[in-house]
Amino acid sequence: MKRDGACTSLWQDGMTDYKAQQNNTAGNKIFDVVIVGGGITGITTGLLLQKAGKAVMIAEAQNIGFGTTGGTTAHLNSFMEMPFNQLIKNFGEENTRLVAKAGRQALELIKKHVEEYAIDCGHQEVSAYIYAQDEKQIKELDDIVEGFKKIGTEVSVTKTIPVKIPYEKAIEITGQAQFHPTRYIYALAKEFEKLGGVLAENCRVTSVGENEILEITTSQGTIKSRNLIYATHIPPGVNLLHFRCAPYRSYVIAAKLKNESDYPDGLAYDMDEPYHYFRTQEVDGQKYLIAGGEDHKTAHEENTEICFTRLEAYVRKFYDIDSIAFRWSSQFFDPVDGLAYIGHLPGHPQNMFVATGFGGIGMTNSHIAALTLTDIIVAGKSEYEDLFNPNRLKPVAGFSNFVKEAADVVSHLIGGTFSKEKLDTLVELAHGEAKVVKYEGHTLALYKDEEGQLHAVNSACTHIKCTVGWNTAEKSWDCPCHGSRFSYDGMVLTAPARKDLEVIHLEELVDH
Ligand code: FES
Repeated sequence: MKRDGACTSLWQDGMTDYKAQQNNTAGNKIFDVVIVGGGITGITTGLLLQKAGKAVMIAEAQNIGFGTTGGTTAHLNSFMEMPFNQLIKNFGEENTRLVAKAGRQALELIKKHVEEYAIDCGHQEVSAYIYAQDEKQIKELDDIVEGFKKIGTEVSVTKTIPVKIPYEKAIEITGQAQFHPTRYIYALAKEFEKLGGVLAENCRVTSVGENEILEITTSQGTIKSRNLIYATHIPPGVNLLHFRCAPYRSYVIAAKLKNESDYPDGLAYDMDEPYHYFRTQEVDGQKYLIAGGEDHKTAHEENTEICFTRLEAYVRKFYDIDSIAFRWSSQFFDPVDGLAYIGHLPGHPQNMFVATGFGGIGMTNSHIAALTLTDIIVAGKSEYEDLFNPNRLKPVAGFSNFVKEAADVVSHLIGGTFSKEKLDTLVELAHGEAKVVKYEGHTLALYKDEEGQLHAVNSACTHIKCTVGWNTAEKSWDCPCHGSRFSYDGMVLTAPARKDLEVIHLEELVDH
């Protein structure tokens, strides 16, 4: 199973390719719904719609779980990343109660799937713990507790937490869970196909003819559908939502510990900025401590390897690590006001939908999206549609800064102007090294692979032309503006870009 980065995640380990049963675009059939993206959102939504009697096709550009589903840490929280006290300020008490209800319903749906289909994915109900380590954090934690209480969600102050980290005050939120995400979606994909759903991997959607019957051009031919859902983490093209969601990277290690009793029994979060998070997952009899953090805006860290180094050093302060079995990083999109965008895709016909802006709560938000979009398409309405409406225009404090930050270009990654004579210097990049340089009026993104071969692509992101930056750890070109990502040789890994980076043939450039 492939993923959108060079590091192998715990969730890829031992997962063979899925192998869809009906890997074709089914001729002239008109589907009720085409879902673009075979991650947890696309597959769960596809299953619910197919179960409700709709004819559904899922078109995945790579393989299922290729995106963030293969790189998540799979915490299942019924609460959002933005605490309820803050959501109350942004959306009011009544709406925040609805958010909490949606979160609980999402977790119930996951549990129901696991039971109904007897999915062997290590699903386990656990408590979540948030702990404060100084006076300022205690005050913030008290406000968080206040938010939970206001909306009637149970929370208690606890004397013990499951991690070996000093703290001053902590709370426990019961009724949370954890699981193995790719085993879960493989099982759902099978159920989807059993019900007659069409799942096409390596099927990239390149354009959509926007009529009552949508004409969807893909790498496997044209498909017709009455509705379309972009479950691509962020929609492709240029959209209002690219200015309301900022791309971030988060770093994870899965470690084997020397002491069996040290594995945390529960989900734990500190209150640092960015915060660290911990949990345990047992896979085929082996336990792993999953620890994450070191988040930063995509393409805003010059050497992403350092993020792993810092994370590992932090975890080693508290845990006796036997070995780091896996380490990987992944992307998430933070919504400006704290809630995901689920519903009608702004600026497009009413039969086009989107689910994005999941923040760090993607597993939960994917299921909220599946429930909401299924209700909208099948019943014409959902109790959550106003809450998560992508067209909401509610300005929130800090919005203009957010937009400015989201549009930042990382100029320090541009290495200078080179003349023809300096080409040798470029070629002298160390193996595994990459750089963005100016060369005779062209701005090039250069990577020398471990075998010494030089790869050159145009550094202008094919979304709206920001300059990409090198991601050392995942060996990808990442765009700081809206989070598009490309392989070292320019292939699109992550939307919103639809087109690969232009490959530059250096020899031709020099000859010219
Ligand atoms: Fe928008 Fe690159 S993702 S310009």
